Amino acid sequence: MRVLVIGSGGREHALAWKIAQSPRLSKLFVAPGNGGTGAVAENVALDITDHAAVVAFCQSAAIDFVVVGPDAQVVAGLGDDVRTAGFTCFCPSKAAGQLEGSKGFTKALCDEMGIPTAAYGRFDNEAAALAYLYTQGAPIVIKADGLAAGKGVTVAMSVDEAEAAIIDCFAGAFGASGAEVVIEEFMMGEEVSLFVLCDGTDILPLTTAQDHKRAFDGDTGPNTGGMGAYSPAPVMTPEIYQETLERVIWPTVRGLAARGTPYQGVLYAGLMLTETGPRLVEYNARFGDPETQVMVMRLDSDLLDLLHATATGTLAGHEAVWKDQFALTVIMATKGYPGSYGKGSEITGADAVNSETLQVFHAGTRREDGRLLAEGGRVLNVTALGASAREAQQRAYAGVDSIVWPEGFCRRDIGWRELARSV
Ligand code: AMP
Ligand code: GLY
Repeated sequence: MRVLVIGSGGREHALAWKIAQSPRLSKLFVAPGNGGTGAVAENVALDITDHAAVVAFCQSAAIDFVVVGPDAQVVAGLGDDVRTAGFTCFCPSKAAGQLEGSKGFTKALCDEMGIPTAAYGRFDNEAAALAYLYTQGAPIVIKADGLAAGKGVTVAMSVDEAEAAIIDCFAGAFGASGAEVVIEEFMMGEEVSLFVLCDGTDILPLTTAQDHKRAFDGDTGPNTGGMGAYSPAPVMTPEIYQETLERVIWPTVRGLAARGTPYQGVLYAGLMLTETGPRLVEYNARFGDPETQVMVMRLDSDLLDLLHATATGTLAGHEAVWKDQFALTVIMATKGYPGSYGKGSEITGADAVNSETLQVFHAGTRREDGRLLAEGGRVLNVTALGASAREAQQRAYAGVDSIVWPEGFCRRDIGWRELARSV
């Protein structure tokens, strides 16, 4: 199979790395890729926001299967355009991708299907939003309705903070994504993510992971795209897992199918484990970044096979086999991230550390004259396997410590929740 992976993050490097191990693969491309994907695939300098250009490349390179990584391309309907041109594509339809593209859409589906989630109101003007806030009080959560690179959410501990977030949203802090605001009940508990492949009718649950969204140690500082992750997340017990499938995942899959917009792709459920059971925080309509990096390290099955079965409605009978080990990834980011940061600093030592138990997945990197340069906010994902979360953590930080990059930083406590549980 000739395969094209769309995207340029650590997630796409991890997907490409695993797809490259498939016996069904004959040739792998990544567009546009990064300084790491070139080692496992051919990078293609495509503008992935230009759907016609993606289709033209698929035609000229005789691509058999397209795998779309990033949320922006899912929500923009790249999958629909690629399929219309006659190609098989792992990407939900634009209609089903609304699960990620519109928080209000997901909330309405939850209401319709009785899926446990936070109570909410949805508003298209400041006065109505503020009036609702005053009836609810704090703590409370204010969200821009559309995509905002993970930065459109304010967990407000006071009414003043919530007021400011509402005013900012309607003043255009998140552009068109903030034209509508969702105000949610604050849910207390531990967060965990569950990934499930859905082919429209059947599902294949993959595994669990836990992300670390805040920039600094101790879960402090601003929200980021994710500073590290580990998998599995044992906080999701077998009982909670079953309950989540029955009360959250299946109603979602059935509800979307009944509406005539079946979900085909990976469902990434962000869950809050509350006193009253698992409740949905949000859905994403694509793989997690950096959760994918830890998942692929643990996966023994053929990822290409699973993604292709998902995209062709033939998941029934497939299984996913996981190593009975922990994987943990530490994000090395450019100093300043998630705010403004410089570009072009040199990194050395990143190529030397790869082994059976340690892989450095690249995100914002590029190669120039044999040098590895930092090009983005999140730059390297140092990912290790271990018999325990602690062993995986030790190996990941040993990897981090052998990389020389004065302009980079990372959190030093990735996996702390699991380590605190397991002592
Ligand atoms: P979201 O983009 O919806 O995942 O929100 C980003 C983060 O804000 C989540 O990962 C949670 O940590 C937090 N959050 C979102 N909604 C709620 C809620 N209703 N209650 C508590 N925390 C929330
Ligand atoms: N790790 C968070 C995300 O992929 O959205």
